[in-house]
Amino acid sequence: MKILAIETSCDETGIALLEVKNSKFKILANQLSSQAKIHAPYGGVFPALAKREHIKNLPLLLNKIFKSIPGMDKLFDLICVTSGPGLEPALWTGIVFAKELAQKYKTPIIPVNHMEGHVLSVFGKNKGEFSVPKISFPVLSLLVSGGHTELVLVKDFGKYQIIGQTLDDACGEAFDKVARMLELNYPGGPEISRLANQARGKEKENQTFNGRNFSEEKFTQSSSRRPAESLKSLFSFSLPRPMIYSKNFDFSFSGLKTAVLYLIRDLKKENPKILEDIKIKQAIALEFENAVVDVLIHKTKKAVEKYNVQTLIVAGGVSANKHLKNQLKKSFKNTKIKIYFPDQKLTGDNAVMIGMAGYMKFVRRNKKGVRASSIKAEGNMSL
Ligand code: KG4
Ligand code: ZN
Repeated sequence: MKILAIETSCDETGIALLEVKNSKFKILANQLSSQAKIHAPYGGVFPALAKREHIKNLPLLLNKIFKSIPGMDKLFDLICVTSGPGLEPALWTGIVFAKELAQKYKTPIIPVNHMEGHVLSVFGKNKGEFSVPKISFPVLSLLVSGGHTELVLVKDFGKYQIIGQTLDDACGEAFDKVARMLELNYPGGPEISRLANQARGKEKENQTFNGRNFSEEKFTQSSSRRPAESLKSLFSFSLPRPMIYSKNFDFSFSGLKTAVLYLIRDLKKENPKILEDIKIKQAIALEFENAVVDVLIHKTKKAVEKYNVQTLIVAGGVSANKHLKNQLKKSFKNTKIKIYFPDQKLTGDNAVMIGMAGYMKFVRRNKKGVRASSIKAEGNMSL
């Protein structure tokens, strides 16, 4: 059967056409239109603009798919659409579009939780066939995106228990906000990561460059900070690892973000043009990225132990982060834990993962769709 999947929860308009045969998926078409440039001046996603762009992009992307595949009279047998979580005005554009198509082509329709899409994304492949492997549950999932930071116990696909989540900012959001403070472009994650990696390269060349291994240091639980007192101490500041030793699996990134804000403010007092120095930006990016990754890894390890899982799924936009990936692999190197990351092309928002999650849900429902009129945008939908 063929599945048409639609994703409009945030700033990516995505439409994908998947084929499923004998439980094997194949991507027939995958269209994605990013609005990152449009939202860049705002340093984040502007909902009204996102809605306008989705409305404009959806028919364009669908037409591209129709044109690329001949024989379009009845192309698909199922429509899957993201119904939450996300920005409600953006979600509605996809839902309305999907409902119209379902009515026109008389196909069943399935609403999909965007985060379940991210969970399934790790089994996708940009090229060739792929399937969802038989894994023994429970599985732990670390979901890190622009809107979410969650540790989820996957008891089965469709059965999720959130065991910890951020109490304030999502970690991707913290990357974006800190990037903005550093006068970097939106989305900030890749920018910060690039600078941090440059700093890591320099660290190897120059032993005096902020070369401590922070993960071995003792961190205070409070958001205490040691601001750079002078430019000389520039490379010796450290940022807090919020809640790293808290006894639960929750996260907090807003204190870390504020610590960067104060650090930059202090540095600017010494030199208002401080951010023109790329080395400063690299040093801040490095320490910020280390702080976020330290916390994510510490909590993930604890959760893997407590719930005795054999499989870890890491997904969401921030799962593209190389340092996070490397450190996770290192942490579980001599264990039996199998870690799944998404294909680099499927880390961010996309419709392929929505099609996969939607199909799995369709099968769980004995291949029955839901009543179209019951599908509503749920901005705060939880797993
Ligand atoms: O999953 P996603 O594409 O959209 C949401 O559902 O939110 O995640 C987007 C987030 C953004 O905050 C972006 O800055 C972050 O993922 N991101 C990264 C990296 N690539 C994207 N964060 C850190 N390192 C990266 N390499
Ligand atoms: Zn997402």
